[in-house]
Amino acid sequence: MSINYDEQIPNNVNLSGDKRLQRALEKWQPAFLDWWNDVGPVGFQKDDIYLRTAVSTQPGGWAQFGHVKMPDYRWGIFLEDADPNRTIPGGDHAGEAVWQEVPGEYRNTLRRIIVTQADTEPASVEQQRWLGQTAPSMYDMRNLFQVNVEEGRHLWAMVYLLHAHFGKDGRDEADDLLARRSGDADKPRILDAFNQPCPDWLTFFCFTMFTDRDGKYQLGALAESGFDPLARTCRFMLIEEAHHLSVGELGVERVLRRSVQLTKADKNGDARAQGGIDLPTVQKWINYWYSYSLDLFGSEISSNAADFFGAGLKGRWNESKDFTDHSALNQHYTMAVVRNGSLTEDQVPLRNAMNEVLRQSYMADCERVVKRWNRALEEEGTDFRVSLPSSRFFRRQGIYAGHDFNREGDLIGSETWQKNSASWLPSDADRAYVASLMHAVTEPGKMANWIAPPRKGVNGQDIAFEYVRRA
Ligand SMILES: [Fe+2]
Ligand SMILES: [Fe+2]
Repeated sequence: MSINYDEQIPNNVNLSGDKRLQRALEKWQPAFLDWWNDVGPVGFQKDDIYLRTAVSTQPGGWAQFGHVKMPDYRWGIFLEDADPNRTIPGGDHAGEAVWQEVPGEYRNTLRRIIVTQADTEPASVEQQRWLGQTAPSMYDMRNLFQVNVEEGRHLWAMVYLLHAHFGKDGRDEADDLLARRSGDADKPRILDAFNQPCPDWLTFFCFTMFTDRDGKYQLGALAESGFDPLARTCRFMLIEEAHHLSVGELGVERVLRRSVQLTKADKNGDARAQGGIDLPTVQKWINYWYSYSLDLFGSEISSNAADFFGAGLKGRWNESKDFTDHSALNQHYTMAVVRNGSLTEDQVPLRNAMNEVLRQSYMADCERVVKRWNRALEEEGTDFRVSLPSSRFFRRQGIYAGHDFNREGDLIGSETWQKNSASWLPSDADRAYVASLMHAVTEPGKMANWIAPPRKGVNGQDIAFEYVRRA
């Protein structure tokens, strides 16, 4: 169905056909705008930003680009078209017709799943609200704001489901989504990574690379849900999400390239002496954000994950395409667990290992990016290579939390951890150094010294295009 921009809330769900729902969402809309103005990007709400807006949900050519003031962005409700023949991809109901309404017995669980996903969307906007002030270029600033408005739209996507399918409870949850605040002591966001500050652009690039990529896999699992409106919502969100991931991947790549160039330019091979970010520092940021993002998948062994899968509420990545046995029963997953102070292998019923199965898909995706980063390092002429730490390293959630592991994933004593963690994770001095480099570069086409220019601009525009027109 095509997108209707004539209504107050753009949508492709025939919103005007349900007046009660339309009115309820029109009441939520000004609260959303208040939230955006309060805790969205600081200092750029009056400027014209070159942004894309969804005009259809068909892949390829779905977006229109133009200069827009962010508060005027047309946030709306866009679901992928329904497939009348779609069946439930996995679990006990696999092969049955998908649900268009929430099944009563899964109502609370499904609401929790949707709220947890929804909460991450405004949280990331809050985390990133100060970054516009120190953007390394107008091009990067525009990308930041594109990510921000789309996270706002993802919030709309989830709030629509809450309003349309969960009655009063859903409307209350939608209100609460605007009341929690990232990092707030009293009303924090639900997941820990979304309460971490995002004070510098290296963090932003690592966050969009690793944490938004967790989002990709969570959305992918929900795109395999038996609750069809959720699956269709997530399918379209995934198309938008791809841009966020590329901002992160290419951002880190540009930092790496520049780091090598500055290392070579310095007579002592010291990138910091040339005002750059040295490669070992980038590696520390990777260690930190990769580990934090791994936590978001939940515990390796989880009866909740088994229940979600069994009920058909969540699937594996590409459940309908990549698997033949959709029951996941009578199968086991081999997992390393800590027992009596050492690592041993356990056989876990596959359904209970579904968080880990999804995490493994994510990890393989991250590895592919690391390969591309290392190709870039090779092109720049260095032997230095970046890598991902073991998935046991620096975990605060799941079965490895509470134990110390080195980057290779070997169990180590806490003394060894104390001695080495400063060389594995960003220290206060590292953070202060990176923060000291963060100064806005506002001349179109110019880049901060610590980052290489991108290969190309946005939507065929020049890198020196005026992506942000200051008011
Ligand atoms: Fe999102
Ligand atoms: Fe995102």
